[in-house]
Amino acid sequence: MAGKIPQHFIDEVLARTDIVALIDARVPLKKAGKEYVARCPFHDEKTPSFTVSPSKQFYHCFGCGAHGSAIGFLMEYDHLSFPEAIEELARQAGLPMPREHTAPAEPQRRDGEEGHRLSALHAILERAARHYQIQLRRHPQRDRAVNYLKGRGISGEIAKRFELGYAPPGWHHLEEALGRGPAERALLQEAGLLTQREDGQSYDRFRDRIMFPIRDHRGRLVGFGGRLIDGDGPKYLNSPETPVFHKGEELYGLHQARQQRSLERLLVVEGYMDVIALAQHGIPYAVATLGTALTEQHLQRLYRHVDEIILCFDGDRAGREAAWRAVETLTPFLDDRRSARFAFLPQGEDPDSLIRRLGREAFEEQIARSLTFSDFLLENLTQGSDMRSTDGHARLIQKARPYLQRLPEGARREELLNRLAGRVQWSPQELARRLELPQRQRNSSRNERRGQRRPPSLIARIIAMLLQAPELAQRAGDPERLARLELPGSGLLQELIQILQQRPQTTLAMLFEHWRGRPEGQYLARIQRLIPPMEEGALVVEFQDAMERIERLIVESEVESLLKKSQNQGLSPEEKRHLQALLQAQRQG
Ligand code: GTP
Ligand code: MN
Repeated sequence: MAGKIPQHFIDEVLARTDIVALIDARVPLKKAGKEYVARCPFHDEKTPSFTVSPSKQFYHCFGCGAHGSAIGFLMEYDHLSFPEAIEELARQAGLPMPREHTAPAEPQRRDGEEGHRLSALHAILERAARHYQIQLRRHPQRDRAVNYLKGRGISGEIAKRFELGYAPPGWHHLEEALGRGPAERALLQEAGLLTQREDGQSYDRFRDRIMFPIRDHRGRLVGFGGRLIDGDGPKYLNSPETPVFHKGEELYGLHQARQQRSLERLLVVEGYMDVIALAQHGIPYAVATLGTALTEQHLQRLYRHVDEIILCFDGDRAGREAAWRAVETLTPFLDDRRSARFAFLPQGEDPDSLIRRLGREAFEEQIARSLTFSDFLLENLTQGSDMRSTDGHARLIQKARPYLQRLPEGARREELLNRLAGRVQWSPQELARRLELPQRQRNSSRNERRGQRRPPSLIARIIAMLLQAPELAQRAGDPERLARLELPGSGLLQELIQILQQRPQTTLAMLFEHWRGRPEGQYLARIQRLIPPMEEGALVVEFQDAMERIERLIVESEVESLLKKSQNQGLSPEEKRHLQALLQAQRQG
C-alpha cells in the first residue's frame, strides 16, 4: 500500500512547477506589478481579488481567504486528493513518482489485483467470524462461553447484533476448518488468524476465547478481539496489524452504531464489553478504541458521523492523564460545529458497571452533565498556578498559548479567551495579542483594507520579510541564538531561518506544504502580506534593522536570566565577566 509521499519529493515537484502557468491555464491571469490577478474562482466577485505570486508560488484571495500552493489549487479547483494533485504535477514536470507511489503501467489491473487481495482478506475474516459464531451455538465446549456471556448479562439478541463467537480450544481448529490448501493457509496467516512459529509451523492465534469481530466504518470485517474466558494468558488478544487492520484507526462498535437512524453523538469508551453492555442497556451509540489512545484518525472518523462526542475516562489519576492527552489530539478539531465532552467515571467503575447500576436514564443524565472541552481545558490550565500573582498569570498564559493557538477560531475560542482574560484580569483583546492567536483570513484581510490592523509583532514582520525574500535568511546569523527568545513565534522563526539558510530556494508554497494541516502553515499564509512588497534594497535595510532589535532582545533576555541567577544561586567568575560584557554592550548599543 502507498505510504507517505516523501517531503523532498513534494519540494521537488513544487520547485519544478510554475503556479502562474498552472492557474493561468484554468483561470486567465493578468499581470499586476510583481503578481498576477484574476476574479476569484472560489467565490463570486465582480472585481478581482485573487492574486498569484510567482516568487512565493502561492495564491491568495483577499475576498474569501482562499490560499495555497499549486498542490492546494489542484485539490480545490480540480477536486483532486492530495496524492492525486502531486501525481498530476509530477506528471506535468516529467518527474517519476517515488517507487512505492508509482502509478503502475497498467493501473486498472494492478489496482484490481491489490483490491482483489484485500477483498480476499475481508472474505476469509468473514468466514472465520461466521465459523466462530457457529461454534458458539454448536461446539461441545460452547457452554463455558455461553455461560460467561449470560453471566455478564448479554442477551442472545445483543450477541447476534455484535456477531459474538467462540474460538474453541486447540491449536489447529480454525486452520483445519478453513485452511485446506496452502493458498487459504497463507490468507489466514496474512489476516492474522494463524500465527507462525519460528520453525515454520503455524497455529490458531485465537484459542478458547470469546470472539468480537471488528468491522470498519464501511462494514468490512478487518479483525478480531478475543477475550479469555478463564485461565491464564492476556485477558484480550487482538488481531495483529494487517493490510486491512490498523488498530489506531478503527473504532469497535462504529459499524453497529451507524445502524441507528438518527445518530447524534458517539460515546467513546475503552472496552469491548463496555460497548456491548451499553448497547444491552439501551445506549447503542458507544464505540471503543482498541487498547490505544485516541488518535487523529479516530477523531476524523468520529466527526464524519456526528458533531458531538463524549469521551469516557476512569476517574482516577491515570484517567485524568489520558484525558489530558486526548485534549492535545482533539484541540484542532474543535470548530464551532463540533463539540467534545469529558465524562469521568466514579472511582472503580467502568461504563459497563455504571450502566448496570444506574440504568439508561440516569447514565445519560450523568454524561449530559459531564465537563465540556472548555471546562476541562481551563481546569487543567489553571491547576497549580496561583491566580493572585502575576507570576501565576504569566504561567497560565504560557500554558494556554499552544492550546488556544491550535483551537479553530470561533465562539468557543472567544469564550475561552474571555474566561482566561477574566482570570488574569486582562482585556480579552490584550490577551489575544499576547497569545498570538491566528485570526480568520477573511477578517484580517477586511481589516487590512480598512487599515485597522494592529502593528504586527517584530517576529511576524521578520517572518513576512523572509517569505518575501528568502535570501535574507543568509543575513540572519546563527538561528540557534533565537532559542533564547521566549517570544511568540520565535521557535518558528528559528526553524524558518534554518530551513532557508540550508535551502535558499525554498518558497512559501514549499513551507506551506511542509507544515500541511498544521497551524504553522496557516500562520505563514496569514502573515505573508504583513508588509507591502518592497524593493530589494529597502527590504535589506528593514531586515537588518529588525534583526538588530532581535539582537538587543536576545541580550536583554540573557542579562535578565543572569541577573536572576546571580540573585538565586550566584554566578561563576566566567558568568560574571559575561554579564559585564553584555551590560556594557547594552549601554553602547
Ligand atoms: P472486561 O474485563 O471483560 O470487562 O473487558 P473490557 O472490555 O471492559 O476491558 P478493560 O476495560 O479491562 O480494557 C479495555 C480495553 O483494553 C479492552 O477492551 C482491550 O481492547 C484492551 N485490553 C485489556 N486487556 C488487554 C490485554 O490483556 N491485552 C490487550 N492487547 N489488550 C487489552
Ligand atoms: Mn470491563
